[in-house]
Amino acid sequence: MSTPDLFDAAAPRPDTAKAEALRTLLHHHAHRYYTLDAPEIPDAEYDRLFRELQALEAAHPALQMPDSPTQRVGGRVLDAFASVRHALPMLSIRTETDTEASGALAFDARVRRELGLAESDPPVEYVAELKFDGLAMSLRYENGILVQAATRGDGEVGEDVTQNVRTIGQIPLRLPPEAPPLMEVRGEVYMRRDDFESLNARQREKGEKTFVNPRNAAAGAVRQLAPAIAAQRPLSFFAYGLGDITPPEQGGPAFETHFELLQTLKSWGLPVVSFVERSLGASELIAYHQRIGALRDTLPFDIDGVVYKVNSLALQRQLGFVTREPRWAVAHKYPAQEELTTVLGIDVQVGRTGKLTPVAKLAPVFVGNVTVTNATLHNEDEARRKDVRVGDTVIVRRAGDVIPEVVAVLPDRRPPGTQVFTMPATCPICGSAAVREEGEVDTRCTGGLFCSAQRKQAILHYAQRRAVEVEGLGDKLVDQLVDAGVVNTLPDLYRLGLTALASLERMAEKSGQNIIAALEKSKQTTLPRFLFGLGIRHVGEATAKALARHFGTLDAVMDASVEQLLEVADVGPIVAQSLRTFFDQPHNREVVEQLRACGVTWEEGAPAARTIRPLAGKTFVLTGTLPTLSRDQAKDLLEAAGAKVAGSVSKKTDYVVAGAEAGSKLDKAHALGVAVLDEPGLMALLNEHEVSP
Ligand code: IVH
Repeated sequence: MSTPDLFDAAAPRPDTAKAEALRTLLHHHAHRYYTLDAPEIPDAEYDRLFRELQALEAAHPALQMPDSPTQRVGGRVLDAFASVRHALPMLSIRTETDTEASGALAFDARVRRELGLAESDPPVEYVAELKFDGLAMSLRYENGILVQAATRGDGEVGEDVTQNVRTIGQIPLRLPPEAPPLMEVRGEVYMRRDDFESLNARQREKGEKTFVNPRNAAAGAVRQLAPAIAAQRPLSFFAYGLGDITPPEQGGPAFETHFELLQTLKSWGLPVVSFVERSLGASELIAYHQRIGALRDTLPFDIDGVVYKVNSLALQRQLGFVTREPRWAVAHKYPAQEELTTVLGIDVQVGRTGKLTPVAKLAPVFVGNVTVTNATLHNEDEARRKDVRVGDTVIVRRAGDVIPEVVAVLPDRRPPGTQVFTMPATCPICGSAAVREEGEVDTRCTGGLFCSAQRKQAILHYAQRRAVEVEGLGDKLVDQLVDAGVVNTLPDLYRLGLTALASLERMAEKSGQNIIAALEKSKQTTLPRFLFGLGIRHVGEATAKALARHFGTLDAVMDASVEQLLEVADVGPIVAQSLRTFFDQPHNREVVEQLRACGVTWEEGAPAARTIRPLAGKTFVLTGTLPTLSRDQAKDLLEAAGAKVAGSVSKKTDYVVAGAEAGSKLDKAHALGVAVLDEPGLMALLNEHEVSP
């Protein structure tokens, strides 16, 4: 049988129906995949259907429709974007940057005054939403088909970026039949943080320019003239409102509230964020602002504030506009996470393992709620890549508890005569050679414990709370002890007498006694704490615990071969080698022996012959206060069962264990659909897996 030809009017045209069926199927699966995050078929099957449609369209170009999923991959390269006059202007919103309460209070008071409400009248109903940090977009659907996507531009005239926006998987190219004949969806195109990170990693690999933040990356992608490149930039979209729409008189929908409108858009396949809430009066808006503020850094995308909108569309119409801002909406911002400042100097610091770290000294700047004066440049490559120089104006970012970082330099503001940063060839503390081994990113001081910076760090590491814990032994005191030559090695700590301590400047006799008492107390420790406290490269707390559990005694750990070390869960070749190297050095064994001789002891256990790790591979996050277990006890129990305990909730988290006053981590768990356990639930899980003898 010959293939029917489209030009052969007499031939039947099964391909038309076939193409339509494929399009419908692909629309359905794209929605499941991109918007609902719940694919029903494997990617390979989707690709197969996609290629089938592509082949059909290639053979019969007349079958190609503007809403075909094949159009997402982008068409021809443009010289410039065409201008689009918006049917209804794209407005901006008034911004309140005031503190927690006052932004919401001021907005509510204004709305009530303008609506002529008395104090005795009931509270106004609002919708509180997130203020996405991306770029505004208007999507025009005619007869259910996406026909145009336009940027905001000056609010009246924007740019036609349809080709690029079609590449955004989450945006439906076609709406269900219930949608009105004409509808403009307004929303925000943005880039997820993880997508941004991987895009930058790819750019770096290719030696191409990286982006400063997700918003810039998103804006760059939307305004990319080559749609094939735009298609490789992972963008996302959230709908938050409407532009032009078929009026109810002509059969369009008659929405009564903003909330109803958003729910309907969602039911038609448009992505609407899940944090949309109806709130009564200012107090609930304030609560929302606080709640989202606490969650902000755990969201998968950037927001710069929240938006409050009057829910009733009738009241919105009554309130109207001032110039180009509606009276019924306001943006309530959070403190900025990025600010500009200048680089006063670049210091090089020496860490415990001798690692040299360049640190930018900054003119003090208030960002992410704290004053920042330092930002790490990590290593030589990073400092070079960013090309940060003394005198530069830089963008500093601090989000949540993450350490501040220099995101980028503003090259236009570089003063003349600046110099490229170079790593020093010698350690700035002890003058020993600084070496960067082949294939390593870090430059290290070769002075070892000859280097006072390394000695100080080694002592501080040993004395920290999570290691052997010597209360009151902080960096000031360690500086004094090492600089005065009183303490050179860890055992020297236990040889300290009151006279030596009292001879230090600013040391009162009472504080000296306290330190001696704390040192005495520290002698009774545990094997994991001691192992961790030794500061062996790559041996963190979890590894130290695993080693102690596996081998039972310190001597067994010290004498274990690389092969035996590799039997420990979590110990890989690098860690095993590092342990071997450490204990092969006579002076390290000497330190251990002297510490024992000074009276440092712990209970030793029997080696675990064959540990059963029922929760191996599972990741837990603990939050809030549990009724009976302390945080550390719960962590120990979980780790003993082979589970990993992480600090923040992500898609990879298997369980969140939540106690009283659990905060944003619990919210995040609910948002991501992660299983949540209370303490009895945790115990039940552990018991259920307990293997009977
Ligand atoms: S509503 C008439 N809702 O903020 C109100 N805008 O100046 C029109 N934005 O660039 C905007 N998240 O793209 C609205 N949930 C949200 C938003 C939001 C982000 C952006 C918008 C525009 C700016 C408003």
